[in-house]
Amino acid sequence: MAKIRKVFICSNCGNTSPKWIGKCPACGEWNTYQEDIITKETPAEKKRAAWQGVGNINRDPKPVPLTEIKAGEKRRLVTPDGELNRVLGGGIVAGSLVLIGGQPGIGKSTLMLQVALGVPAKVLYVSGEESEEQIKMRADRVGEIAADCLILTEVNTAKILKFATAEKPDLLVIDSIQTLASPHIESTPGSISQVRECAGDLQRFAKESGIPVFIIGHINKEGSIAGPKLLEHIVDTVLQFEGDRNYTYRILRTIKNRFGSTDELGIYEMQSDGLREVSNPSELLLSQTEEEISGSAVSATMEGMRPMLIETQALVSTAVYGTPQRSATGFDLRRLGMLLAVLEKRCGFPFAQNDVFLNLAGGIRVDDPAIDLAILSALISSLLDVSVPNDICFAGEVGLSGEIRAVSRIDQRVQEADRLGFKKIFISKYNTKGLDVSKYSIEIKTVAKIEELYRTLFE
Ligand code: TYD
Ligand code: MG
Repeated sequence: MAKIRKVFICSNCGNTSPKWIGKCPACGEWNTYQEDIITKETPAEKKRAAWQGVGNINRDPKPVPLTEIKAGEKRRLVTPDGELNRVLGGGIVAGSLVLIGGQPGIGKSTLMLQVALGVPAKVLYVSGEESEEQIKMRADRVGEIAADCLILTEVNTAKILKFATAEKPDLLVIDSIQTLASPHIESTPGSISQVRECAGDLQRFAKESGIPVFIIGHINKEGSIAGPKLLEHIVDTVLQFEGDRNYTYRILRTIKNRFGSTDELGIYEMQSDGLREVSNPSELLLSQTEEEISGSAVSATMEGMRPMLIETQALVSTAVYGTPQRSATGFDLRRLGMLLAVLEKRCGFPFAQNDVFLNLAGGIRVDDPAIDLAILSALISSLLDVSVPNDICFAGEVGLSGEIRAVSRIDQRVQEADRLGFKKIFISKYNTKGLDVSKYSIEIKTVAKIEELYRTLFE
């Protein structure tokens, strides 16, 4: 009989301890230890498990020269979903383990079911959360019912892998890792040791069979995937599905990718019949109004390798209370504070007596520093109540001394602004190297300092 042992596991890094401790000695996090029961398998049980296809003991790998390793023919399974292919780096790699994390209700199951129905391949979709009828109802809504999509409602990892080995699908989807339970350990589904054990089994299965596996994982309150770092280390690719539930846009972001860049981003729109790919995000993120209003400016940003024009909106109003309020949606609040300080110091604008609210259209979050210049213009525009013409856009980073800095991939930004019919783009004076101005019909205006921007735009 397997020995049952109680341990405490750090939910951040997976360090174990025989008793509860407040601060993890391995990763330094506080209050992360959780009680868990693990069973140590006896050698006989280990052998039996290996026979059943779990465990690893009757496989005996040998060192092989790199030149003799054959890269398989069918290395990537290209899905009909262009956005998913993009974030994966060009399709699903054979034998890869992909984790899709996201908050409840964001659309993870919908996305994976759409993929399962859409790929021209045999898919085994395992759900531990929904019944067969519920999955069928959802499938009816989101797509054409494919004959080679098998549904299995099961939570026992050993059984799932037995079915998967027998059925030999081209893709295995697990919805979700937190519902799985391995029969070899005692703890409850969703506990750290269960999640780790099941993910380990799935990884072995993927590597040995060459079948790619998608795992759906819920995100806990703190915003990380439950059993977080552990799971991220085990899998090859981590995708995060995010978005505001009040908006219809969903963003699929690559957090880690062993087979491609982590710069990529997929955009979807949630509709009544499932998720729709958004291939031209700029046109959706620009406001549809014709009239010019103060406090609004358009930024030519890059999200991953894709240029995107985003409308930034600022509202500056007299502070009612002693301490003025600052609020930002989709933008780093500390960076907003810095921009305000620069404006105050370099141009003498009285932001310290004003409340400042900042908002990016569409519920999108932007980390690209090139958005600074548009935000700055929106702030000045709202403060002075003078509108920025809506055929102008901006791309530039603002430094602490008020200098406008060069940003990456300027030609792509200019090209996108040109394509969307903007008449003028403000960029840094130091950003013109290699930029072929004659190629575009848009006027390129260079500025070196924020004072210069202020004079050209508002005086
Ligand atoms: P779901 O995929 O169940 O989320 P998750 O698996 O991440 O928890 O998505 C649920 C939400 O998506 C639900 O609130 C309703 C919405 N939705 C639509 O708007 N249209 C649709 O066609 C579907 C299937 C879901
Ligand atoms: Mg779900």
